[in-house]
This record gives sequence, C-alpha cells and structure tokens, in this order.
Amino acid sequence: MKRILLFFILAAAVMYGILHGNLWRNNIYWLPPTAVERKNALDTCLLKPTFESLLGVDKIYPFLCANDFIKVAEFRGSDKFELPYGIKRAEQFFRLALSRLQNCGLSTEDDSVACRRCVVVGNGGVLRNKTLGEKIDSYDVIIRMNNGPVIGYEEDVGRRTTFRLSYPESIFSDPVHYDPNTTAVLIVFKPRDLKWLWEILSGQKISAKGFWKKPALNMIYKSSQIRILDPSITRKTAYDWLHFPTRFPKKEKPKHPTTGLIAITLAFHICHEVHLAGFKYDFTDRNSSLHYYGNDTMSQMMQNEYHNIDAEQKFLKNLIDKNFVVNLT
Ligand SMILES: *[C@@H]1O[C@H](CO)[C@@H](O)[C@H](O)[C@H]1NC(C)=O
Ligand SMILES: *[C@@H]1O[C@H](CO)[C@@H](O)[C@H](O)[C@H]1NC(C)=O
Ligand SMILES: *[C@@H]1O[C@H](CO)[C@@H](O)[C@H](O)[C@H]1NC(C)=O
Ligand SMILES: *[C@@H]1O[C@H](CO)[C@@H](O)[C@H](O)[C@H]1NC(C)=O
Repeated sequence: MKRILLFFILAAAVMYGILHGNLWRNNIYWLPPTAVERKNALDTCLLKPTFESLLGVDKIYPFLCANDFIKVAEFRGSDKFELPYGIKRAEQFFRLALSRLQNCGLSTEDDSVACRRCVVVGNGGVLRNKTLGEKIDSYDVIIRMNNGPVIGYEEDVGRRTTFRLSYPESIFSDPVHYDPNTTAVLIVFKPRDLKWLWEILSGQKISAKGFWKKPALNMIYKSSQIRILDPSITRKTAYDWLHFPTRFPKKEKPKHPTTGLIAITLAFHICHEVHLAGFKYDFTDRNSSLHYYGNDTMSQMMQNEYHNIDAEQKFLKNLIDKNFVVNLT
C-alpha cells in the first residue's frame, strides 16, 4: 500500500514537473519577441552597476532652467566658480540668455525610458571607412559635437542626432545641417557666449569681438531646441577626472576639456549604458586625418595648447579598460 502511494506521489511530482516546465516554457514563448528583447535589455540594464556607484556621478539634471538656475548653482557649488565652470559674477548674463529659451528639459519624449543606451560620436578620423552608420543610428540616444557633419557621411557616422554639444565658435551656421530632432546644447566658456546667445535669439546684430574664432552669426536651431549645459558638468570633467589645476601658471594657456570629453560626462549623467565611437587619435602619423571630414591632420591637434590630449586619452583608456564604456572604434 505504502509503495503504491509513493508511486502515485512520485508520478504526480513528475507530471507536475513536466506540466510546469511546459507552461513555464510556453509562458516565455508566448511573450511577443519584442517584449522579451525589451525585458532582457531592462534586466541587463538593472544588473549593471550604475555610473553613480562607478564614477560618483549624481543623476543630476544637466541643463539650466531660467527659474531656478541660481538655486541649483548654490546647491552644486557653481556659485563659487567664475566661468567657464561656474556662474559667479555672470549671473545676469545667464539670466539674459535663459530668458530667450522656452525649455530646459532633457527632451520631449524619452524622459521616461527605463534604460537609455547612448553612443557618443567623436569627430575622429578613425571613423573614416568603418561603415558604422547603421550601428550608430541603432542607439536610443546619439550625442555628437561641434560641427561634425552628418550629411554626406551617413554611411560612416549615421543620420540621427539626439544631442549636439557646441559653443558659439563651433556651432553650425549653415541651415543645410538643421535637424528638427536635435537638441542643441551650448557649452558656455565666457560671458560673451551668453550675450551672443541672447543677441542671436533676439535678432540683434552680432559683433565678432571677444571670440577666438568667428562665431556663428545666425542660429539654425529653433529656440525651443536649445539648452545651456550646467557648468558643474564641465567642472567635474576638468577637475575631478582630468585633474586640471584651478589656476594655471601665468605663462601657460589655461587648459579646458575637449567637447568630446564633456559629451561623455553628459552621457554618464543621463544614460544607463555608454558606448563611444571616433575617439581614437593616431599620434604615430602626423599626416593622418584628424577628423572624419575635412583635411585637418593630426599635426594640428598636436600643436593644440588649449587641451590636454594626453590626460584625456589616459582617462578614456581607463574607462575602456574598466569596461565602464564600450569603444566601437
Ligand atoms: C576611404 O575610402 C575611399 C573610397 O573607397 C578612399 O578613397 C579613401 O582613401 C579611404 N580612406 C581611408 C582613410 O582609408
Ligand atoms: C525626425 O524624427 C521623425 C520621427 O521620428 C522622423 O520621421 C524624421 O525622419 C526625423 N528627421 C530627421 C531629419 O532625422
Ligand atoms: C607628411 O606630409 C609631408 C608634407 O605633405 C611630407 O613631407 C611627409 O613626408 C609626410 N610624412 C609622413 C610620415 O607621411
Ligand atoms: C580637402 O582637400 C581636397 C584635395 O586637396 C580639396 O578638394 C577639398 O576641397 C579640401 N576640403 C576642405 C574641406 O578643405
């Protein structure tokens, strides 16, 4: 009798196992494939350590808003630094420029995305002939910088641009480069840059005085597409990551981070996964292309006095070695 009972219990257990296994498998099977992909993406995203814990990056809002930028600056310590890394003594210029902008949000739709995969596309010549365009376009967020063109280079660099970081001397002025889906992010280095933004958005005449290179004289973006980057992001790049001194000796040109490195810092603040493309330089060949467009060569970059390329390359190598970012090139 006991044996028969044991047999039934075992049989029931086996049946249960088979049925349950089937159901379980069916359950997965019946999820629409896109939902499975989405779920897997979400899982890998949640399993990854966040950039907060890896790099001490707070999830802060990266753009300044007209109504609270003073309060935000006090909170983040930007009231203790003058431009380029703070707002001290330039508050009225910030107020003026911000009064011309309608938005300070991240974007219109994807604030709610649970897992944002981003690619930061540098302008490096290494992108030439790699046909990475399609791959780059597959990311949720595509961050580009300065006047690195998309038109004519789609096969190598893609078509989409979510954010484009630039300053008055580097922003596009030719309307062929207009993209309604881009948020134009202004990096402010001097009070003149804020005055420039105010002038250009109020239809005033712009004088080129006070710029190191002729600035854009017309704005191709709508004011609703424009944001001002919080200087605390640039400050973090310069002081915490590149270890720049707060004061340079009189004889030396003050160094600032490149737009590329500021863009990567921005990505750490708003993305859950960060990939890079176009950030490698070929220092062994002075004649190799500096950018994926145009004819500038590496020798121009080597003469640059305003950046510390060595420090940046070291920092990038460290990020890649530690798998904080994935390098596509
Ligand atoms: C890229 O491809 C074009 C056309 O095939 C060629 O003329 C050019 O030399 C290549 N450039 C590099 C950097 O390989
Ligand atoms: C902008 O986005 C819309 C909607 O996703 C798309 O149809 C359009 O082609 C995009 N425009 C450009 C220039 O990328
Ligand atoms: C670089 O270009 C210059 C001038 O065009 C040439 O004299 C030199 O040999 C080139 N160097 C290399 C390493 O190709
Ligand atoms: C680059 O050089 C080529 C050949 O010398 C020339 O045709 C072209 O206009 C130059 N491009 C730019 C952006 O200067």
